[in-house]
Amino acid sequence: MTKRFTLLTVALMSVTMLATSCCNKEENDNANCNADATINTIMQRKSVRSYNGDTIPADIMEKMLRAAVAAPSGMDVRPWHIVVMTDKSKYEEMFAGNFNMEKFMQSGAVVIFCADTTVTRPPRENPDAPAVTSPNPIWRDDLGACTENFLLAAEAYGLGAVWTACYPFHDRMDPVTNYLNLPGNIVPYSIVPVGYPTGDNQPKDKWDESRIHYEKF
Ligand SMILES: Cc1cc2nc3c(=O)[nH]c(=O)nc-3n(C[C@H](O)[C@H](O)[C@H](O)COP(=O)(O)O)c2cc1C
Repeated sequence: MTKRFTLLTVALMSVTMLATSCCNKEENDNANCNADATINTIMQRKSVRSYNGDTIPADIMEKMLRAAVAAPSGMDVRPWHIVVMTDKSKYEEMFAGNFNMEKFMQSGAVVIFCADTTVTRPPRENPDAPAVTSPNPIWRDDLGACTENFLLAAEAYGLGAVWTACYPFHDRMDPVTNYLNLPGNIVPYSIVPVGYPTGDNQPKDKWDESRIHYEKF
């Protein structure tokens, strides 16, 4: 009786474990599938500099912006302000005479990633004190992550985009600051033309094993 009971228990446990492991495997397969899709988007991302001029649907733009601001942020300050320009006449006017930007006029939009370079909140050491405004020394890192998230989302939607430098080059920052009338604490960091790609755009293979160091340099 005891032996039969033990056998039954073992059999039941095995079935349960099998069922659990099947379930886990399915979850695992789904996770792998999501991972494949995510990694594929990352590996396929490339700078795209020519577009067919079509406008980008507003819902797609919002999803890309939501992805952008999902970026990590030091101390969770989230210093970004993002200016989306879809009116070609306006960004043509803003970039008139700017050699770097003039070539992107066929994009469906130009997205300008700006940073609030200050943080306003109670001092860290005294959270109950009144808020003070102080420089945020790591806003650039946050803005880089935000810009890259946007590029990846663009890739995921079959759009083409290119990160163009703005900060710290005054010849690129000043026209934007002046045209958009940005306050002194708001710095234009990067400019991303985005649109439906034309031409042959291929991702680069950047893997170089000699740049990867395990445990020591
Ligand atoms: C910080 C930064 C600034 C860049 N500035 C420009 C730029 O001003 N103009 C441009 O055409 N591309 C610019 N790029 C895009 C790079 O040229 C591009 O990422 C690089 O050649 C690698 O190609 P890939 O993006 O297709 O992998 C910039 C990229 C980064 C990350």
